[in-house]
Amino acid sequence: MNKKTVQDIDWSGKRALVRCDFNVPLDESQRITDDRRITEALPTIRYLVDHGAVVVLCSHLGRPKGAVSDKLRLTPVAERLGKLLGKSVHKLDDSIGPDVEAAVRGAKPGDVLLLENLRFYAQEEKNDPAHAEALARLGDVYVNDAFGAAHRAHASTAGVAAHLPAVAGFLMQKELDFLGAALENPERPFVAILGGAKISDKIGVVENLLAKADSLLIGGGMANTFFQAQGLEVGDSLVEADAVDTAKQILGRAGDKLVLPIDAVVADRFAADAEHKVVDVDQVQPGWRILDIGPNTVDLYEDRIAKAKTVVWNGPMGVFEMDPFAEGTFGVARAVARSSATSIIGGGDSAAAVEKAGLADDITHISTGGGASLEFLEGKELPGVAALDDKE
Ligand code: 3PG
Repeated sequence: MNKKTVQDIDWSGKRALVRCDFNVPLDESQRITDDRRITEALPTIRYLVDHGAVVVLCSHLGRPKGAVSDKLRLTPVAERLGKLLGKSVHKLDDSIGPDVEAAVRGAKPGDVLLLENLRFYAQEEKNDPAHAEALARLGDVYVNDAFGAAHRAHASTAGVAAHLPAVAGFLMQKELDFLGAALENPERPFVAILGGAKISDKIGVVENLLAKADSLLIGGGMANTFFQAQGLEVGDSLVEADAVDTAKQILGRAGDKLVLPIDAVVADRFAADAEHKVVDVDQVQPGWRILDIGPNTVDLYEDRIAKAKTVVWNGPMGVFEMDPFAEGTFGVARAVARSSATSIIGGGDSAAAVEKAGLADDITHISTGGGASLEFLEGKELPGVAALDDKE
């Protein structure tokens, strides 16, 4: 990574304005159900505390669309973070303005403050210049550790960097190093696995991975559009009619690099208690829908994964939230966990599946970014990264 990091700054007596991605899942009682995005931010926060900075943390949570929402306050994050850090985190009730500025002025080196949800202001997502300036008043140096939000050009991820020295935190650095190495300099064979419901979201990723990987294994609903492009019967399966021509073009170019499922779990309804069975992909009947890859496909993919030296996986192989259609995703998760390759899981659903399968410890790197890792794999420049200062 050619960006400056927290290690390039002398922090003593300085205020660090740190953008984190504390957009964590909450249950109905506002309890955090997965705190990985908080635990992954700890190295940067601890480093800043230990080096005498006043640490001013900020994040979004959910999509409140510019209005205050009591359900989306960062209070549960402050509590969890305080427990994990072993020191109190001073949670503020706003993210800009004179009261916040006074609280930051009153803080001592080593103190940790957390601003309120940034998205309670519509100006945040609009990357409003005056709003970015108001945020910048809270720090001497800006640290971006929010890889998960780096694909957003918002005031706190991009605009603020115009006003302060801007460096990457350790999590940002780790994400860019792992994902960057996989794309730019992978140990081969490099096997990419791509799933998820829609191909239209992932055409750019398919194109970029076909150029970089040795094999691209496809699963999830997006495979159906390829089947349709091959002229197969897909019954009531999810198909994106608009993307069939693109799928045809990709199939024409990809050769045997692109590997499609050979069998599937089909169901008579989209429901956990639907009647279901395994069929070869050329045996799907009208009235049935594909909801998972089948066991022969898992074996085929496992074989490719076992021979790989680098594996990147983004997107589930089926509707893994429903037990009868989870085995494809879990089978691939086990294969990735067993392999000796450097394994990288793009965030979002595939990360959740690996956690659910209890295999997270066997993966080299699980990204904290869903959309961000997808855009990175697509080869796009992330605004939150582009805004950081280059190393001299
Ligand atoms: C995520 O969960 O992918 C990030 O926190 C970004 O959230 P957003 O999609 O609401 O911008």
